[in-house]
Amino acid sequence: MSGIRTEVSSGVMTIVLNRPEKKNAITNAMYGEIADALNHAASDPSVGAVLLRGEGADFCSGNDIGMFAEASAGTVDIHESNTGTFLTAITTFPKPLVAAVTGRAIGVGVTMLFHCDLVYVAHDCQLRTPFIDLALVPEAASAYTIPARIGHVTAFALFALGDPIGADEAVALGIANRAVPAAEVAGIAAAAAKALAAKPLSALIATKRLMRDAEAIAAAIDAESQAFADQLKTPEAAAAFAAFAARKAPRA
Ligand code: COA
Repeated sequence: MSGIRTEVSSGVMTIVLNRPEKKNAITNAMYGEIADALNHAASDPSVGAVLLRGEGADFCSGNDIGMFAEASAGTVDIHESNTGTFLTAITTFPKPLVAAVTGRAIGVGVTMLFHCDLVYVAHDCQLRTPFIDLALVPEAASAYTIPARIGHVTAFALFALGDPIGADEAVALGIANRAVPAAEVAGIAAAAAKALAAKPLSALIATKRLMRDAEAIAAAIDAESQAFADQLKTPEAAAAFAAFAARKAPRA
């Protein structure tokens, strides 16, 4: 069964992370499916924008920790997973990306927002990137994108202390456009995506390209990927994944 759902309507492709029983944690298969959907949207002239949202109360609880545990144990090579395909697809996606964020967004559920062009958050949202607690490092170019957007010390507190960011702070920090009631966020984001899809696509694509430093993003991903793979192999990371599996770690 697919872990995502897609539909196209009014020039907007909606990609729904559809694994609510696991808080939309992203598996290796889902990374591949999201990449395929984005690549399809990029080349389909009838698609003018993509909307990302999660099924259920939460947006995304990050990378599936079981996948991290397999990489840590050496049964999966993270370099041969679909993660790289996903990162290339989302960081080079040429058309506008819009996100509707409800509930929890963790890890890649946060870092992907820094590749979105419009972000709408629900009042109940909580953004967390507990990379250091998992003995990991930032990913998806977030070692570059997050400090560049919100400043070094706030980014460091997010990464290293695991400090959460709520909806109002996300707006104040320039991570999100607006905080709205949870029941309205999907509709408001969909309306914004539809409005974008009705605009001259070539101008949107050129504007997005001009606003993003593609070289810096690609360089950050290269540097992070090696550090991330190295950290996955540490005993501290293995212990953190085992603790999550055993429900010994403090929960968010
Ligand atoms: N990877 C794999 N499974 C995950 C997951 C993840 N990132 N996040 C949640 N799940 C699973 C849980 O193991 C649980 O599975 P189970 O029902 O088979 O036991 C299910 O999703 C529901 O999660 P649960 O922890 O019971 O819900 P909660 O409301 O108490 O807490 C979270 C939700 C998201 C706060 C908590 O699950 C969590 O901290 N997840 C890990 C987040 C994380 O560190 N991600 C990686 C960032 S790099």
